[in-house]
Amino acid sequence: MALVGQRLAWPLLVVLAAMLLSACGSPSSEAAERAEELLARMTLEEKIGQMTLIERTAVVGCDEAEWVAACDLEKIAEFGVGALLSGGGSGPSQNDVAGWRSMVEEFQDAALSSRLGIPLLYGVDAVHGHNNVKGTVIFPHNIGLGAAGDADLVERIGRATAVEVAATGIRWTYAPVLAVVQDVRWGRTYESFGEDPDLVSDLGAALVRGLQAGDTTDDTYVLATPKHFVGDGGTTWGTGGRGYPIDQGVTEISEDELRAVHLSPYPASLAAGARTVMATYSSWDNGKVHGDRYLLTDVLRGELDFAGLVVSDWAGVDQVVPGDLEASVAQSVNAGIDLVMVPHDLVGFQTALRDVVLQGLVPEERIDEAVLRILTVKYEIGLFDRPLPGVGLAEQVGGDEHRALGAEAAAKSVVLLETGPGLLPLPKSERLLVGGRAADDIGIQSGGWTIGWQGRPGDITDGTTIVEALEAELGDGVEYEPSGSFETPAKTGLVVLGEGPYAEGLGDSATLPLPNNELQVLERMREHVDRLVVVLLVGRPVVLDAVADLADVIVVAWLPGTEGQGVVDVLTGARDVTGVLPVTWPASPDVAPRFEKEACEDALYPVGYGLGFDGVPLEEVGPCGSP
Ligand code: BGC
Ligand code: BGC
Repeated sequence: MALVGQRLAWPLLVVLAAMLLSACGSPSSEAAERAEELLARMTLEEKIGQMTLIERTAVVGCDEAEWVAACDLEKIAEFGVGALLSGGGSGPSQNDVAGWRSMVEEFQDAALSSRLGIPLLYGVDAVHGHNNVKGTVIFPHNIGLGAAGDADLVERIGRATAVEVAATGIRWTYAPVLAVVQDVRWGRTYESFGEDPDLVSDLGAALVRGLQAGDTTDDTYVLATPKHFVGDGGTTWGTGGRGYPIDQGVTEISEDELRAVHLSPYPASLAAGARTVMATYSSWDNGKVHGDRYLLTDVLRGELDFAGLVVSDWAGVDQVVPGDLEASVAQSVNAGIDLVMVPHDLVGFQTALRDVVLQGLVPEERIDEAVLRILTVKYEIGLFDRPLPGVGLAEQVGGDEHRALGAEAAAKSVVLLETGPGLLPLPKSERLLVGGRAADDIGIQSGGWTIGWQGRPGDITDGTTIVEALEAELGDGVEYEPSGSFETPAKTGLVVLGEGPYAEGLGDSATLPLPNNELQVLERMREHVDRLVVVLLVGRPVVLDAVADLADVIVVAWLPGTEGQGVVDVLTGARDVTGVLPVTWPASPDVAPRFEKEACEDALYPVGYGLGFDGVPLEEVGPCGSP
């Protein structure tokens, strides 16, 4: 998989792919014409309004947040706001499909009441299903899909996600993440499909195809947003932004490597028709990428022929020249940011952008170019004709078909690291002792970006936990005790250990631990059983020492989402085990960064490793240290 030699061929492929896609990435001429006509009728303030993307609480949140200047719906028209988003976990108090639809409808109506009646683009991080909304199907996080390595599966997940998103009246998601993770201590490791640019390229494009299937004006055509452009997965430990160790840090690599590893997944997603791209918080040679004209314009538009819109990340513009909003806004917009995810200081942003335009620091042609791209995308997806799509889709949300797909994905994600003859599948007609709090916890198995931004343990949404699926499959033989304290010994024990949910920089970790008290469950159970199976619910490789000492079987189920059934299907042999590691499992956290390392250098298990039930590696990749 991730071979250094393979990477060298990539710059050439990038160029070839860019040449190919220049034919297909261009907007429809009718949409572009209508956008031109509208642009000609707009004032500078209205144009700036179209470039404004605010969080929903910046409109409705008066009481919650005093710093919000605009706090009622009329402000949307008054400030000509062009786009709104729900940040992680941000939704209506009635958190279901109907609640979301009526929220989006109210916002949309407010926008349509402006002088020009331009509809809003509403965006959301539907990164593993429509994950802010209760009752939706939560699919495995990308790291698990990387283990499955099945582009057709990812495309079908994109389709199901698009249907669930469209059902709530939304046409835009901030996915796929095209980060090519190089250091698994990064809190966003699970958002990456893996360390191999080739794999990220294939699966990212598959997700774009799934989200954007059919005609652009179809209700369930949901705009994809490859992110974060570019280099987010290659930052150096110790250089992180906003006080984080590695997240939002500096990608300290040569341009050749930036292109070969981190840029190379983009052409396939753009060729698949992606119309929006999000800039990365991270920095490279010229400082923050949000202010880097070379990367955002010369490379993304010039070389890759991207004709859609570039959106900034959450307050990412503010970081370009710290403490100087005007300078930050001017540099970012000149660099190529078209739509600014403000996300709260609506008035501050609009004032700053207007000022720098009037001072001549940002040419009005650059404003026109940005607005034209935004309006063109809105016309292309038919927003002007149907501002609230997705009537009649509610029944499919969280429906059986999508849940079956979630279970299939969870099963295909499973990687078997250690086993022995006859240890798996689990016997059907015996007692099975099950321990570990993660065994019966939808929140832990779903991870970050689920209902809340950081995710949360507990019964946070509908789904099937591992214990529930085991009980359904194996019946009365299953005895569950989270603490692992059992009286009567049995032949087989199963412990589920979870990292616990986190997101972004808050998940950066120097030590990659499993929770200590849960490791004690393992020790307790070891004494009572002959065969001990450990299932890990993790967003990345963790330190295995204690587990390796005590377990006979080690199964990595990543963050499978709401359909724990899939994991159990593998444990019971109803489905085969087929997943392999999408990242190297480092020998210890301090040797985690991959960059140019050989497969087994500093590693416990190499990328591509994974066993079948018979204990034989699936891809002829042996464990490290084996002859
Ligand atoms: C993240 C993005 C996300 C955005 C909106 C940022 O903090 O980096 O990935 O799309 O927030 O929630
Ligand atoms: C939001 C996220 C966002 C993050 C950025 C959170 O409050 O919910 O969507 O990514 O802030 O720091």
